[in-house]
Amino acid sequence: MTDRLIIFDTTLRDGEQSPGASMTRDEKVRIARALEKMRVDVIEAGFPVASPGDFEAVQAVAKAVKDSTVCGLSRALDKDIERAGEALKPANSSRIHTFIATSPIHMKMKLRMEPDQVVEQAVKAVKKARQFTDNVEFSPEDAGRSELDFLCRVLEAVIDAGATTLNIPDTVGYNVPEQFGSLIKNLRERIPNSDKAVFSVHCHNDLGLAVANSLSAVMNGARQVECTINGLGERAGNASLEEIVMTVKTRRDIFPCNVDHLETTQIMNCSRLVSGITGFPVQPNKAIVGANAFAHESGIHQDGVLKSRETYEIMRAQDVGWSANRMVLGKHSGRNAFKTRLKELGVEFESEAELNEAFGRFKDLADKKHEIYDEDLQALVTEANIEAGNEWLNLVSLRVCSETGETPDAAITLRLNEEEISAQSEGSGPVDASFRAIEKIIESGCNLQLYSVNNITSGTDSQGEVTVRLEKGGRIVNGQGADTDIVIASAKAYVNALNKIMEPVERAHPQKGEV
Ligand code: KIV
Ligand code: ZN
Repeated sequence: MTDRLIIFDTTLRDGEQSPGASMTRDEKVRIARALEKMRVDVIEAGFPVASPGDFEAVQAVAKAVKDSTVCGLSRALDKDIERAGEALKPANSSRIHTFIATSPIHMKMKLRMEPDQVVEQAVKAVKKARQFTDNVEFSPEDAGRSELDFLCRVLEAVIDAGATTLNIPDTVGYNVPEQFGSLIKNLRERIPNSDKAVFSVHCHNDLGLAVANSLSAVMNGARQVECTINGLGERAGNASLEEIVMTVKTRRDIFPCNVDHLETTQIMNCSRLVSGITGFPVQPNKAIVGANAFAHESGIHQDGVLKSRETYEIMRAQDVGWSANRMVLGKHSGRNAFKTRLKELGVEFESEAELNEAFGRFKDLADKKHEIYDEDLQALVTEANIEAGNEWLNLVSLRVCSETGETPDAAITLRLNEEEISAQSEGSGPVDASFRAIEKIIESGCNLQLYSVNNITSGTDSQGEVTVRLEKGGRIVNGQGADTDIVIASAKAYVNALNKIMEPVERAHPQKGEV
């Protein structure tokens, strides 16, 4: 029998460190429920000490999730560990993940600490974490650029102090597969008490090698991989969960461990959910979850696939949940069918009023679009949450005029702190005109960093899902909007981003700042 590979998902923590990808408490709970349905072993829900909002989100995930272990991140500091321990109290199974940097450059330039002090603080942190749970993970941050002897010293000491998982991060994505694999092998061989802990890896994708490095580590004895849905994460992202899982599953002939416990058919659901909530679209050629991943475009391939699927396909689309674009509901579907399908997608309503409100939105959508797919339902719930979170500014109405040979123009009415204000503007296109009209009212001073439109399903009646990324004073937010009219979806996304950027949030970043 091969070992089980522990899948540690950090979408809600490292994924959230992507620019503008911050998630609300309810959004985190929705994603955590979907991950639990996939039977992910560990869900890292956040960094509780970062802000009261982060604390509440970790606590809410700890309450909602029953089958997966819920983990909270903490620096190697008493106050961080205490907050993590407190937030995780409601969990059936909890883990505290504590870390401190061990590379010469991080110790000298960031921590301004001597190596001896780092060892001492790491040991102290692990002992402190053990006061809250028996399940303690320790990470030597920037292990990929740390000295081997020093890493061995720190890791041996933290195992003695009670760490049960040793996570080796390639924090800056600097390693290459062979090198990273031998690092894991060397650590396991050289640390005298290495058999007392599970070795884990956490790879960043700066050189596009996060998945390859993680898998090389697995070949060399790592039995936990930290990864994220769609490879979301700081900078170029983390190793993608779907790629790790499907590689180990598809190439079970060569891997010394398995992911048989995972419900891989939930992968697409999680992918769409994370993309919709964070506003990070999935590129069409992304492995496993991209729109083209199982589309056999060329005639030769189609012919081969029709004769025998295995000629060009190494895995089945349905094994990762690609039953996409299946019509699930329509205009005549009742409340019960609506509620049941959403429950299957991991969405439950807290009150009858909430259900009624969502059902009203569904009926409006079904009037415009006859076939409603899972993707539409997910977007509908995301949209409802977004609008509920728009406390300051809302879109009341928009009229755009676009005609060949004429300059497009937009007339918009916004509700700003209960007062309705209208403005009109021309622009180079209807979206540009709408954004300019909004800015005539708000004068936000924000820089538009990204504007992207995606169709949620196929067909010209599909809803467009728009992401707008705004920057102001170094802070970055993503706003989202969905509608069958993409100009309206764009205005909704812009309004959502403005709501987020105007809201002051004091939030610590786990890997920057003081220790
Ligand atoms: O990339 C990294 O080193 C991290 C640690 C906090 C594990 O995210
Ligand atoms: Zn990371």
